[in-house]
This record gives sequence, structure tokens and C-alpha cells, in this order.
Amino acid sequence: MPTLFLCELPAEAMAKKSPWKIPLVPSRLALLIAIITNEASGNFVVAAGMSSDGTLTLRQAVSTGGIGSHGNDAGANGPDALFSQGSVKASASGKILATVNAGSNTISVFSINPSNPTDISMIGFPVGSGGEFPVSITINSAGDTVCALNGGAVNGVSCFSVDQQNGLVPVAGTNRMLNLNQTTPATGPAGSVSHIVFSEDNKQLIASVKGVPPTPGFLAVWDVADNGSLSESFASVVPAEGGLLQFSMTIIPGKNAILVTDAGIGFDVFDFSSGTNASSKSSVVAIDGQSATCWSSFSPNTKNFFLTDIGTSMVTEININNDLVGTVVKQYDQGKGVATIDNDVASMGNNDFMYILTPNATALNVLSLKAPGDAQLIQKLDIAGPASAAGLRISAANLQGMTTFIAQ
Ligand SMILES: *[C@@H]1O[C@H](CO)[C@@H](O)[C@H](O)[C@H]1NC(C)=O
Ligand SMILES: *[C@@H]1O[C@H](CO)[C@@H](O)[C@H](O)[C@H]1NC(C)=O
Ligand SMILES: *[C@@H]1O[C@H](CO)[C@@H](O)[C@H](O)[C@H]1NC(C)=O
Ligand SMILES: *[C@@H]1O[C@H](CO)[C@@H](O)[C@H](O)[C@H]1NC(C)=O
Repeated sequence: MPTLFLCELPAEAMAKKSPWKIPLVPSRLALLIAIITNEASGNFVVAAGMSSDGTLTLRQAVSTGGIGSHGNDAGANGPDALFSQGSVKASASGKILATVNAGSNTISVFSINPSNPTDISMIGFPVGSGGEFPVSITINSAGDTVCALNGGAVNGVSCFSVDQQNGLVPVAGTNRMLNLNQTTPATGPAGSVSHIVFSEDNKQLIASVKGVPPTPGFLAVWDVADNGSLSESFASVVPAEGGLLQFSMTIIPGKNAILVTDAGIGFDVFDFSSGTNASSKSSVVAIDGQSATCWSSFSPNTKNFFLTDIGTSMVTEININNDLVGTVVKQYDQGKGVATIDNDVASMGNNDFMYILTPNATALNVLSLKAPGDAQLIQKLDIAGPASAAGLRISAANLQGMTTFIAQ
């Protein structure tokens, strides 16, 4: 069995210690929060469960059967090893979780037990990612297709169907190259790949690539055929004037448009409503005082977007109006030097919670998104202590990813 229950924390023992006495939510609302350790000695999914007030308890770490890696960042060996968003991704419809193993050039898929979502088990074995240095995963809305973005010397995308017995099976006609002049591990952040998403209607597969200033990056857009294959070539869509380092992509619901964080300035809006050509509604919006705005999520209840900056450790709340005009609503300081990176939002009824990886503090921050302009920090969950007690190797430079799962 490839799955190692390295640091399962016994629920009865935890319940006896008052700080840990957190009732897990009933199965109907059961929630999983996951990140990856991304260590070269072994990659693990770290799974936490959520209580009814949104706060987290670490539950277990599970081997992915692969190893992590760290991009070549000119010797800095800083956090955000993969220069990416989406290194681990869960699907509520598919009841699966998939992760990259950047150092093995593989991806792994797990089934999620819907009545106890922190209970994940690998399906089959890790499979080749279709290139080198895989950094990002997306899952279609049906939850039966997983696509990976590779950012190394062999870079591009590849898709897999999910077989509940055997795991990931390559889909014909989906191994498509970007042909960037890159290295393995990737050299970046400038000039590296960032994130992969499906369009809202699942008819396009989109990958973001950072520019090398002053040259802007681009979004690579493939058409998805009915049989799941991808168009041979991709459309290369550039940002409006002033865009530089295209990082995460978050779909703007119902608009055929995407909010793209831009590490060089703030964020870009890409409007696809008139195809993949430049549109008058595409724009570039500066966030004053930003350092590197790279990660983003959408909150359905507040209808706002939440962006994180690794350099300032700020969360920036953004509103995009009906005409796709983006404005800063409010900023929330997460503490000097904690390096806010990957994030995700989970909705429990009318309450949204934002989960943020802060690798320099080896912690997760939890914000309650009570209303537009009213996010409140409700928890800082330490990972280092429990990991050390369980013998799980983690480091600020390698921790990556953030995904949430609520049983449907
Ligand atoms: C690729 O990048 C390397 C390093 O910057 C450079 O030396 C080489 O000329 C580039 N190759 C091509 C084909 O552009
Ligand atoms: C899938 O559809 C595409 C586009 O219609 C076609 O070119 C390709 O041959 C099909 N592939 C298979 C395996 O049927
Ligand atoms: C997009 O631009 C190309 C080249 O400029 C043009 O031929 C094409 O008609 C445009 N498509 C749309 C949908 O506007
Ligand atoms: C992370 O912490 C190190 C050591 O304290 C510090 O030098 C570095 O600037 C921090 N990185 C970020 C991105 O905050």
C-alpha cells in the first residue's frame, strides 16, 4: 500500500485536551483543508478538519508516493517553491483530491471519504505528469478529469480521466506543449508557469505564464473537444497594457472573464466575452504598496475576491463590478514576514471562511468573511509543532498549496 498514515492524531486523545476539543462538523457539512509538504525527501498531503465555527484541527499526513522540489530562484530558496497556485486540488463532485509531485514528475489522486473528509486514500499509483516539474492541477466540474500543468524543461499540459479502481488514465490528445525555454526545476518566478484552470463552461483549458519584465506574460487557451481532447495549438492572450507577471486565475462567475493576479502590479482582468482577442473590458489594476500579489480566491457569499501578497503578507479584498471594473475594498495585515501564499475559500451555508498558507510562520491563518469589507482573523494554526511531534518533515521554503472540500 503506498499510503502511509504517518501522523494520524487520535481523535479521543485530542478530545481530552481542552484546546483540541473541537467538535467536527456533521458529515453533511464535513470539510477537508489540505496542503502539501513538497519535500525532496517525500511529499505528503497534510489534512485538517473544520469545526462548525470554521476553525481547524490537524488530522493526518498521507504520503503521495512521490517527492517535492524547489524551483531555481537564484539561490534565495524562498517560500513558494513551485511558483504556483493549485499544487493540490480537491473536487466536491468527484470526491477526489489530486496533487503534483514536482520532483518525481508525477501526479497522485486520492479518494475522499465524504462522511469523514480528512480520511483520504490513494487510488492506484502516481502517474507521469506528461512533462517535467508539474506545479498545478485543475479538475473539471464533473469531477472526472484531472489536468496538470508542467513548468520544467518539458512544459505544457496533460489530462487524465479518473478511474475509481486504477487511478489516473491519460486522455488521448491532451499532452500539449507550451515550448517555453525552461529548466528542470523551473527557473523563476519570472518566466515560469503559474496556474491551470478550466473555463466556467469547461470548454477551454487555460494556463497562465509569467512574463520577464518588461515583456508581459500570457494566458495559453486550448479548446476542449467533446471527447476531452485539446486543440493542437493554444491561443496566446496577452494582458491589457501594464500587465506583467500573470499568476493565479480566478473565474469571475457568469462573465466569461478571469481575475488574474499580477505579481508585478496587482491584478489583471481578462475579458473573454468576445473570444480570445483583446477586449475593451480587459484591464490592469494596481494595488498600492504591493510587492508580489500572486494568489486568489472568490468568496460566493461576499461576492468579492481575496488576493494574497507574499512580500507584504497582506490579504487584499477586491470587488469586480458588473462592467468588470475592479477596485480595492479593504486590506488585512496577516503579520510581518509570514509570507501569505496559497489560499482557498469554503462556504458553509451563509458563512465563508478563507484559509491561507503562511509558510514563513509554518502556519495556516483562518479568516471569517462575515460580510463585504469585514474579514476577521479567527485562528492561526501551527503546523510545525504537530509535524515535529509526529516526525513529519516540513519547511518554510517548501510548504505549498491550499484546497478545501465540502461534502455535497
Ligand atoms: C534558453 O535560455 C538560455 C538561458 O537563458 C539561453 O542561454 C538560451 O539561448 C535560450 N535558448 C533559446 C532557444 O532561446
Ligand atoms: C476527439 O475529437 C477531436 C476533435 O473533434 C478529433 O480530432 C479526435 O480525432 C478525437 N479523438 C478521438 C480519440 O476520438
Ligand atoms: C480576432 O482577431 C483576429 C486577428 O486580429 C481576427 O482575424 C478575428 O476575426 C478576431 N476574432 C474575433 C472573434 O473578434
Ligand atoms: C521569511 O523569513 C526569512 C527568515 O526570517 C526572511 O529572511 C524572509 O524575508 C521571509 N520571507 C518572506 C517572503 O517574508
